[in-house]
Amino acid sequence: MAKIKKVGVLGSGLMGSGIAEIAARSGYDTVVREVTSELVEKGLDKIRGSLGKAVEKGKMEAAARDEAVARLSGTVDLAAFADCDVVVEAIVENLDEKRKTFGALDEVVKEDAIFASNTSSLTITQIAMFTKRPEKFVGLHFFNPVPVMKLVEVVRTILTSDATFERAFEFARSLGKEPIACRDNSGFVVNRLLVPYLLDAIRALEEGVGSVEDIDKGMQLGCGYPMGPFTLLDFVGLDTTYYIANIMFEEYREKRFAPPPLLKQMVLAGRLGKKSGRGFYEYAKK
Ligand code: CAA
Ligand code: NAD
Repeated sequence: MAKIKKVGVLGSGLMGSGIAEIAARSGYDTVVREVTSELVEKGLDKIRGSLGKAVEKGKMEAAARDEAVARLSGTVDLAAFADCDVVVEAIVENLDEKRKTFGALDEVVKEDAIFASNTSSLTITQIAMFTKRPEKFVGLHFFNPVPVMKLVEVVRTILTSDATFERAFEFARSLGKEPIACRDNSGFVVNRLLVPYLLDAIRALEEGVGSVEDIDKGMQLGCGYPMGPFTLLDFVGLDTTYYIANIMFEEYREKRFAPPPLLKQMVLAGRLGKKSGRGFYEYAKK
């Protein structure tokens, strides 16, 4: 099988920018696609800033940073993905948007390329079926913040070929990550366990069990979690968490996955977490 040289990343929000950063750092020519040229520039700026911080902290040589920056490019045009060997999608958690994107992508990207989705909660099967290459489709589920978190869930469907799965597993390793193999079910391994916990924290708040600060402190100091659930919810994004909860509830029809009313209200009110400056906590504007 041909060596992976060029990686395409769809979306340069919280996750896409991190995925593009580690791909460029790992030696791959990397192209990132956003919906407007302003968002392309914003995403590239974020990646350059993060690489700059790594140099400041002595974790990366300036020359290696310059090489990574030179390997990175941004576009609004899907045609720039034509010669990619792997495409990782990290756009909004919405099936219809993923359908439109992969339908168009399938027409322009070379036939032997692997397609991967970073979806948190949709099944890979339903996304793969929007393309004519379900045997070359996997889930590559990264964790936030991508440059720091070691895990990648590599997800195979009943249609994924052994060669594709093995290639995707090795690709995750080449990015400096620890892959685990997962069967295709909504939430894979981690979110199947993590999402009910996060939603339950909101329900505990609704029921007046404790304050945001005390529930966070409880889980940090009582269980040694690096962040309490509300800090983590703000970090993931309350909009993304709300989409995930709706999708998982629809899939499993179990109350533990149902989005609590307060989560919906926060999203409607524009309190999306750290990314909007306010969620369960307030964040100082940069
Ligand atoms: N990009 C790059 N590096 C970052 C970073 C970022 N966004 N955020 C933190 N770091 C680095 C820091 O530079 C620091 O590196 P050094 O130790 O080498 O200096 C290191 O990470 C630790 O950071 P801090 O000291 O600032 O803060 P911390 O010790 O509190 O760690 C954290 C920050 C790594 C984010 C930690 O709080 C943590 O692990 N939190 C939990 C994160 C988590 O659970 N992620 C999963 C979310 S769920 C998900 O992703 C799946 C989904 O589908 C929703
Ligand atoms: P985000 O809102 O930060 O970024 C999404 C980006 O996608 C936006 O910048 C948007 O402009 C862009 N976009 C939308 N449609 C597009 C298209 N057709 N082509 C290119 N770009 C497009 O969201 P995020 O948190 O980065 O989440 C992205 C994906 O990763 C979702 O599927 C989410 O479930 C998953 N995920 C999120 C986390 C997390 O902690 N936030 C963790 C793991 C996986």
